[in-house]
Amino acid sequence: MDVLEAIKTRRSISKFKPDEPPKELIEKILDAGTWAPTHHLTEPWKFFVLTGKAREKLGEAMAQALAEELTDLDSQESKVKLDSERQRPLRAPVIIAVAASPKQDPNVVELEEIVATASAMQNMLLAAHALGLGAILRTGKAAYRKKVKEFFGLSDKEYLLGFIYLGYPDMQPQKATRTPFSSKTVWLN
Ligand SMILES: Cc1cc2nc3c(=O)[nH]c(=O)nc-3n(C[C@H](O)[C@H](O)[C@H](O)COP(=O)(O)O)c2cc1C
Repeated sequence: MDVLEAIKTRRSISKFKPDEPPKELIEKILDAGTWAPTHHLTEPWKFFVLTGKAREKLGEAMAQALAEELTDLDSQESKVKLDSERQRPLRAPVIIAVAASPKQDPNVVELEEIVATASAMQNMLLAAHALGLGAILRTGKAAYRKKVKEFFGLSDKEYLLGFIYLGYPDMQPQKATRTPFSSKTVWLN
């Protein structure tokens, strides 16, 4: 698929068939991630591929992280919230959690490490689309909770930027619109 076509036709896919895509396809997506631009060649990204029971373990960590913020854990409302949190990672057969691990070096600008990792995520979304898979980048509050970061062994200096939910699409994407670039662009001659 032509890159411009991939960029324009990629849409977030949030419903997946239960089948797990083959490892070779997932590896192609990870490989695409690693070709993102990276200042000082720091390659600051970390990828965690979760399939099968690992998604349940992540769901448990996400529920535990949420539990820390709930006041009445025994209430019916809390139980429903915790159960829904636990189920979230089961919405796709594969999840790629993506973290930025900024190089600790005075020459390296932390924000640039996040920009590079975000570029890796976009590469992966486009690669998934070009390979006939569906994907959606999700964060939710979970991505920013300490216990969820700890689940991945990330330190305080690292950032969990999001979860790429991945699989074979089981939905038609919604029609998308974007504001024309002209209203976001200033040409300086
Ligand atoms: C940083 C980031 C976080 C996102 N988190 C979520 C999320 O938690 N849940 C969700 O449904 N979509 C999430 N999205 C996906 C957006 O909702 C989606 O990209 C937007 O609706 C545009 O649709 P499109 O991707 O089909 O163009 C996120 C996107 C970005 C860039």
